[in-house]
Amino acid sequence: MNTEKTILVTGGCGFIGSNFIAMVIEEQPGYKVINLDSLTYAGNLENLEDVMDESQYQFIRGDICDETLVSKILSENSVEGIINFAAESHVDRSITRPGIFVDTNIMGTLVLLQQAVANETKRFLQVSTDEVYGSLGAEGTFSENSPIKPNSPYSVSKASADFFVQAYQHTYGLETVITRCSNNYGRHQFPEKLIPLMFNNARTNKNLPVYGDGKNVRDWIHVHDHCRAIWFAYTMGEPGNVYNVGADCEKTNLDIINIILSYLSKPESLIEFVKDRSGHDRRYAIDSSKIRNTLGWKPTIDFDSGIVKTLSWYYNNKNWVDNITSGEYKNYYSEMYENR
Ligand code: NAD
Ligand code: TYD
Repeated sequence: MNTEKTILVTGGCGFIGSNFIAMVIEEQPGYKVINLDSLTYAGNLENLEDVMDESQYQFIRGDICDETLVSKILSENSVEGIINFAAESHVDRSITRPGIFVDTNIMGTLVLLQQAVANETKRFLQVSTDEVYGSLGAEGTFSENSPIKPNSPYSVSKASADFFVQAYQHTYGLETVITRCSNNYGRHQFPEKLIPLMFNNARTNKNLPVYGDGKNVRDWIHVHDHCRAIWFAYTMGEPGNVYNVGADCEKTNLDIINIILSYLSKPESLIEFVKDRSGHDRRYAIDSSKIRNTLGWKPTIDFDSGIVKTLSWYYNNKNWVDNITSGEYKNYYSEMYENR
């Protein structure tokens, strides 16, 4: 193989990881990517169809909690660095089954850190989230210095992992960087999350279950811009640093749903206000001036064009959605939404 460097990407069959791998394979011919993914409900090999035959790419099915496997991968491949996407990522699932979030998000990250030190892996990038900062009122933004005040079992597990990452930098001298990004949108997102779920429901004339008053605010960024930020942080980030990533694009959930309804020419009567999520964070908004000013990253995709491109992708890839929503998803949907 004619490549110089190998990175281990974990969770590469999910939403963001698959977009990241496609970007690296396309833009970084000097890198080989090993993708370690256990293929949970959220992992989908179809997401990597375009790259699976590339010589730069290798897939290994396995769990980040499997110490022996992680050690073998790192030692046999002279891995330069680890980029950890693997996680249980859905807040609602963390409310009903928090244990698996501890296993993967905390214990799995710890295994990766331990094995990175044991195998002298040079760099470790933890893909974290703005949700570790908790919830904002009507004003203000999260900076890297904001207090860590996670509220959901998901965000607590991500915050715990971040603290372990920082401890491994401080205690063992492992070069670590953490990125904390806001809500992503784009192709390949599992239809448990707001945009693909509402799109799929509206398309099939099902009700759109809006939690609470629908006025919770999320700060949206196109997944490709997030992936670029991770690459900037992995290749240029200062060891021991945290970088917030966001595109200054705050929207209420109803704003997003109305965009979807108008794209599909569906009536507002599909909207159904349902019981709120327990402990629902009201507002997230991110100050990403640090990564912009120190690493020169900035978002390149404006929301108005990015969302149309994204909705068109879901519209044109009905089979992708149907394959996911035909099986186990039905049980998930009725467990989560029936009697809500
Ligand atoms: P996702 O749920 O779409 O994908 C997660 C992937 O991890 C899946 O392919 C799954 O099979 C794999 N995985 C889960 N447990 C594993 C394990 N134990 N071992 C190996 N693989 C395992 O998630 P996503 O939305 O792509 O998020 C990726 C990362 O980005 C997560 O760490 C998440 O916390 C973070 N993040 C997500 C967002 C967002 O808006 N989606 C925003 C900020 C940060
Ligand atoms: P989600 O996509 O789960 O991301 P997160 O909770 O990590 O921000 O949810 C985004 C917002 O949409 C959040 O305020 C909850 C809301 N939401 C609904 O109103 N109904 C739904 O069915 C889902 C999945 C989310």
